[in-house]
Amino acid sequence: MLQKRYIFPALILFFSFLYSCENSSSEARQVERKISFNEDWQFFLGDSSKMASSEAQWRTLNVPHDWSIEGDFSPEHPAGVGGGALPGGLGWYKKSFTLAAKDSTKLTAVTFDGVYQDSEIWINGSYLGNRPNGYIGFQYDLTPYLNYGDEQNEILVKVNNADQPNSRWYSGSGIYRNVWLEQTDKLHVPQWGTFVTTPKVSRDSALVQVEVRLANKYSGVKNGILETSLYYKDQEVASVTAEFEIQAQDTSEVTQQITVSQPQLWSTEDPQLYSAVTRIKVEGEVIDQYTTQFGIRDFKFDLEKGFILNGEQVKIKGVNNHHDLGPLGAAVNKRAIERQLEIMKEMGVNGIRTAHNPPAPELLELTDKMGFIVMAESFDMWERAKTENDYSNFWDEWHERDMKDMLLRDRNHPSIFIWSIGNEVPEQWSERGAEIGRELARITKEVDPTRPVTAGMNPPVHTNEDDVTLQFDEPQQPNALAGSGALDLIGYNYAHQTYPKHQVNFPNTPFIATETTSALATRGYYEFPSDTTKIWPVRWDLPFDGGNADNTVSAFDQVRTPWGSTHETTWKIIKKHDFLSGFYIWTGFDYLGEPTPYGWPSRSSYFGIVDLAGFPKDSYYMYKSEWTNEPVLHLLPHWNWEEGQTVDVWAYYNNADEVELFLNGESMGTKKKQGDDLHVMWRFPFKKGILKAVSRKDGQVVLEREVKTAGEPAMLKMQPDRQTIKADGQDLSFITVNITDEDGTIAPRANNVIHFEVTGNAEIAGVASGDPTSHESFKGSSHSALSGKVLVIIRAGKEAGPVEVTATANGLQKATTTINLE
Ligand code: GAL
Repeated sequence: MLQKRYIFPALILFFSFLYSCENSSSEARQVERKISFNEDWQFFLGDSSKMASSEAQWRTLNVPHDWSIEGDFSPEHPAGVGGGALPGGLGWYKKSFTLAAKDSTKLTAVTFDGVYQDSEIWINGSYLGNRPNGYIGFQYDLTPYLNYGDEQNEILVKVNNADQPNSRWYSGSGIYRNVWLEQTDKLHVPQWGTFVTTPKVSRDSALVQVEVRLANKYSGVKNGILETSLYYKDQEVASVTAEFEIQAQDTSEVTQQITVSQPQLWSTEDPQLYSAVTRIKVEGEVIDQYTTQFGIRDFKFDLEKGFILNGEQVKIKGVNNHHDLGPLGAAVNKRAIERQLEIMKEMGVNGIRTAHNPPAPELLELTDKMGFIVMAESFDMWERAKTENDYSNFWDEWHERDMKDMLLRDRNHPSIFIWSIGNEVPEQWSERGAEIGRELARITKEVDPTRPVTAGMNPPVHTNEDDVTLQFDEPQQPNALAGSGALDLIGYNYAHQTYPKHQVNFPNTPFIATETTSALATRGYYEFPSDTTKIWPVRWDLPFDGGNADNTVSAFDQVRTPWGSTHETTWKIIKKHDFLSGFYIWTGFDYLGEPTPYGWPSRSSYFGIVDLAGFPKDSYYMYKSEWTNEPVLHLLPHWNWEEGQTVDVWAYYNNADEVELFLNGESMGTKKKQGDDLHVMWRFPFKKGILKAVSRKDGQVVLEREVKTAGEPAMLKMQPDRQTIKADGQDLSFITVNITDEDGTIAPRANNVIHFEVTGNAEIAGVASGDPTSHESFKGSSHSALSGKVLVIIRAGKEAGPVEVTATANGLQKATTTINLE
């Protein structure tokens, strides 16, 4: 029997400070629920674990682990070039462990944050289950099968990523997210057992509602007290208690409401966080403690004013990202995700769409903490396939469970503002799309009525405007999903030409651009003239035989897909109208797979504003000049051309009225952005030397920038993003290596092979240059540069001390840097 209890409203008052922080953290120590279960797994790649003839064939490693990223690139791998040209296959993981005798009175569960894909799991020979979806977290109760004391337990995991293609991008393979062992009392808050909402929010006061599920696995009735305390920065600000009684082997729900006065609101600029600590007390003793991080914020999508956060209009300036971490593959590393988000934040990005699947929990912890408006997405396909072996095969049996689990896992994250129920599903054109859309929207509202539902549609509406190039199979049908009534926000993928008419086409439903732009560039590569636009490929469904022989794409913002636009075009439209709440650009970072417009030998995308190594392409500075208040003056291209050749020079700038350009001291003219321009341009014959730009406001110099002609590559320079990192076996230092001439100017065409050596308690976690055509291993100890740059990622060991990293290359002066592990 399900019991519901409502206890209204409670206190925040100052006497609740009586609970001191030490008190609560010592209680936390007593009831620590979750420990990392990542270390010392054994791994074997083969069709059957029995094929490993000896223990020696199993390799010892720590998860998160992605075996695909360790493989060689080949267009023959069944994932295809679209899947990153890396191998899949069938892999096995096993891990032995013991549990203390005293643990036998507890419940023990294992949680996998994600296994790609189709995992099957056994404990001590007993089958626990199967989970096809590679992006969903899941938990198994191990209690009935465990040994305690000296006797070993063994968990065995089969990962089946052999049936490919099953994805339109690189998925990675293996236990690529974190694993946890969780122990609780038999009376406890179960997995995802809380739902914290903020039904009333103002700057003076907020009502926080905490719904808690309790589970009693004892054979008798249990009575006790459920106490929920809210903390802000380790200070308790409010607390409420309720009595409960639960029958044997039953669950119960308790809803508590707490008022917080003068709440610290969560926003993208100032993402303030609270935590709700739920304690179950029986006879005065805390027997379970469950912490939920949450934020207090108020938002809506308005038909006229777009997105309103805490009463203020905020334009969503978002990016789409896939889950891979470039050279690290899909294997989750929190610092690597944080670095990606830092690079985005610095550009002025305030939104992330988790294209096209539930993300790693760490990403959401970071978006909560760093302040991003997240659109969390569930599926790239429903029952109709996009690739031969994809999730559509599992749809009937699994979609409801997967959708619910995503919502239950993630609904407390303050950074999530929108649920997307799918991306460009082929069903959108038929009544079936409307039916499934309504089903998924219903499930979403049942689990979380607080956030709007959308879907990425292409396009939601047709127009007769000549310049809209429709790119899909059944374009003449109306979009049934858009008209289904299931969606709270009309989600546009591309079709930017139709945005100004949104209010006419959908007078009752607010706007969001789920996916836009799809412009293309190779970092550091430029073509003239820069003011012509190239449409590559010509059509999405025809083979592309144009482009450049070396599979490069100009990094002037001049190459776009037929369904997309240049970076400037879409932003100009979004910027113009208040009712356009914002957009998510395809993509923030380059990703493995989908090397549009090319095929092999390319193996990773050209869409990123930032390349696969994390080095910004030039359009990064266009957005930064528009989206931040930091002064920007960015000049492109580099200054190594043929004498006399006609070249174009662009400048992105802000906080200034004009920019004057000088070549070897001679003024090449002063330019001002006109109308809605986002850059200025000069055209003249190339002369080597020094190009200097000066931006001015009211006659005063704001910034000066120089680009010099580089001489022959002569030396290496290393710049770690962090010189001191944690000696925790996880932390990373990302070291940029520049190839320069003897004066220290980056050699913009240098592509020397750089070799790395590490001494001390650390290892090379990955190497990359951002070149989409490179077939060098990301896991090697050398890599060629692209446009004078390469990245080496150092992973800390567990002993503190200095680590020396040396970069060498034939004919170049070597460089060394020291990373301190603390
Ligand atoms: C979209 C799709 C994305 C990606 C992109 C490339 O249609 O939703 O996953 O394929 O095109 O432009």
